[in-house]
Amino acid sequence: MRDPLFDLGGRVAVVTGGMGQLGSVYVAGLVERGMRVAILDTASGDVPDGARAFAVDITDRAAIEAATREVGAEWGVPHVLVNNAALDSPPDAPAAEVGPFESYPESSFDEVMDVNVKGSFLCCQVVGGAMAQAGRGSIVNVSSVYGLLSPVQELYSFRRERGETFVKPVAYSVSKSAIFNLTRYLATYWARDGVRVNTLTLAGVFNDQPPEFLDAYSARIPMGRMLDAKEALGAVVFLASDASSYVTGSNVVVDGGWSAW
Ligand SMILES: NC(=O)c1ccc[n+]([C@@H]2O[C@H](COP(=O)([O-])OP(=O)(O)OC[C@H]3O[C@@H](n4cnc5c(N)ncnc54)[C@H](O)[C@@H]3O)[C@@H](O)[C@H]2O)c1
Repeated sequence: MRDPLFDLGGRVAVVTGGMGQLGSVYVAGLVERGMRVAILDTASGDVPDGARAFAVDITDRAAIEAATREVGAEWGVPHVLVNNAALDSPPDAPAAEVGPFESYPESSFDEVMDVNVKGSFLCCQVVGGAMAQAGRGSIVNVSSVYGLLSPVQELYSFRRERGETFVKPVAYSVSKSAIFNLTRYLATYWARDGVRVNTLTLAGVFNDQPPEFLDAYSARIPMGRMLDAKEALGAVVFLASDASSYVTGSNVVVDGGWSAW
């Protein structure tokens, strides 16, 4: 039996960054639940049946508009937007990017803010605007425990002990913090237009990180382990579906208890 509370069958979603570790889980999970899913990503790759990939840089408004027009013509106005695409500093980031705050490069700050904040803002303008005109929709803006709270720099001390410089950079945290008020602003702005807007805050996802990091991170988590990417899907389905029909402006925290300590 299909549960009408969580039923997403026949609806349309846009998932930014849908080629990435978490985005690909959302795409597969939403397609499995009968949605048609448009992926906006700069990366390319295989997509499941029911999904279609658009080569879109989310900092480019015209490209978002063009993809949204195509989606609209083929499938209709999207019901769900998951603002998931983002930049973080990868483990092989240049030394200056993971060095002291005092010398964190201005260009890196701009790049991260551009994708993580302006990109989400532009997708809300274009896709959310179309949803508001249609009188329904749900937007999920993805944040992080590093946007809710400061990163714990001690988790990276194993790298310093190896002689490397490593400071978890500031721009990611600042950008993910901005997501909370993008959500609140739009939740109230569109509350009577049928568009709900919520934040999904995640803790660190297991991705074969070095054992020293896994040990330190797990010790910091009440549940004693990192998030399995598949465990983020339930909250996306909840926020996307009618099960959350009275939920807007909220922050759903999926963090194994990280922020409870
Ligand atoms: N992985 C984690 O531990 C973790 C923890 C908390 C929150 N999050 C959040 O979850 C989301 C997804 O993270 P992930 O780990 O799957 O990242 P990822 O790097 O695996 O995927 C990000 C995707 O976004 C795409 N992207 C980057 N810049 C883009 C742009 N300008 N335009 C279009 N697409 C672009 C990339 O090509 C990639 O496919 C992010 O918002 C991240 O902040 C992740």
